[in-house]
Amino acid sequence: MLYDNLSVNELGHLTIGGLDTVDLADRFGAPLYVLDEDQVRANCRTYVQALGQYMPQGSYPLFAGKALCFKGLYPILDSEGMGADVVSPGEIYTALAGGFPPEKLYFHGNNKTDEDIQYALESGVGHFIVDNHHELERLDRAAGEMGICQKVLLRVTPGIDPHTLQAINTGRIDCQFGVPIETGQAARFVQSAVGMKNLEVLGFHSHIGSQIFEAEPFCDAVDILLDFADQMRKELGFTVRVLNLGGGFGVRYKESDPVVDIPGNIKALSEHLKEGCAAKDYPVPQILLEPGRSIVANAGLTLYRVGGVKTIEGYRSYITVNGGMTDNPRYALYQAPYTVLPADRMNDQRDFQCTIAGRCCESGDLIQENIMMPKAERDDLIAVLTTGAYNFTMSSNYNRLCRPALVLVHAGQARLAVRRQTFEDLIACDL
Ligand code: LLP
Repeated sequence: MLYDNLSVNELGHLTIGGLDTVDLADRFGAPLYVLDEDQVRANCRTYVQALGQYMPQGSYPLFAGKALCFKGLYPILDSEGMGADVVSPGEIYTALAGGFPPEKLYFHGNNKTDEDIQYALESGVGHFIVDNHHELERLDRAAGEMGICQKVLLRVTPGIDPHTLQAINTGRIDCQFGVPIETGQAARFVQSAVGMKNLEVLGFHSHIGSQIFEAEPFCDAVDILLDFADQMRKELGFTVRVLNLGGGFGVRYKESDPVVDIPGNIKALSEHLKEGCAAKDYPVPQILLEPGRSIVANAGLTLYRVGGVKTIEGYRSYITVNGGMTDNPRYALYQAPYTVLPADRMNDQRDFQCTIAGRCCESGDLIQENIMMPKAERDDLIAVLTTGAYNFTMSSNYNRLCRPALVLVHAGQARLAVRRQTFEDLIACDL
């Protein structure tokens, strides 16, 4: 199986965290997001322990809420010693509603409005990751009006291309996030920031991309960031105490994807960082990472009911399911690969080539194309694996479909963490 938390029971049913997926669908309905809390916790521990072991004291991981965000997730993250990266007031609100300590929040975003800034300051958000000059000035003024000194990191772009999908690659120079080092703009950005009366600049942030399988691109980013930090020390007398290297370690969507050795990568990165600092006689900064996908993706799967099989003679066969791009737009957007399994017929021969289609009125509403499954029948149960990241958060109500429920699996028990939407929810804001 793709991950250790998945298995097949004596009935030939797929299990997650020891629970039968057929029972879960019978009990909670389908489509259904299932999230294995124990796997989330294990993933958090991998980062917390590796950063604690290899990086300077004070280094810790921040969960990137854009990958998954609901109230009940935040107590889990907090109890595992995670901080959290939030990108909107809505994410801040959700984290705080889940009892998450505001000082462990790091507020991102390339277009924070005045209202966003005010809301975050009033909520006591611990750190802002300042994206640009406009934000810097507004934040300094707002913090001054409130009589506080706000801790900030400055987002800079090192111009690294980690060879991932263009759409999820944010470390290149030509992008809308952060301020580029190479053009000299980042130096001016830092100079303004350290002169601000109501801001305490702790260091820099950079995010180079997503679905990265090795330490090398992060080491390249560290080289550029340390050169830049050294330049800033010489020019401004400013020393970086915190370096936030963003998110991005990859996950396995298919058997053919590599297994990422996260502790090994963090160890390699720490050695590289320490050597780089020693060469410049620079104090080793605390390291923050912002994993999203690698904390939640493999903890999740989605269950769908089959509506039917349609064979277009001479072309191909479709298995249609009762969800699709509304709960998982990633194939439609990125042709993202997934492993699809017959959850209630795991021991059956997979000899039927088919395409899994959703239920939206859109020909691009596909989950996966040309895969091998047993020939399905109406009401069969299908599982799509590794959907814990960027599915729930990117879901929509297109075609006025209700968003599915999300169930947490922990210690052999399942509990509803997000209820299924109702028709009343769909018209709740309509006047
Ligand atoms: N930090 C920053 C500043 C980011 O922009 C991102 C992701 C992360 C952390 C988390 O990266 P992760 O560990 O999850 O790779 N919707 C796309 C992914 C977009 C990622 C954007 N930024 C997808 O479905 O693949």
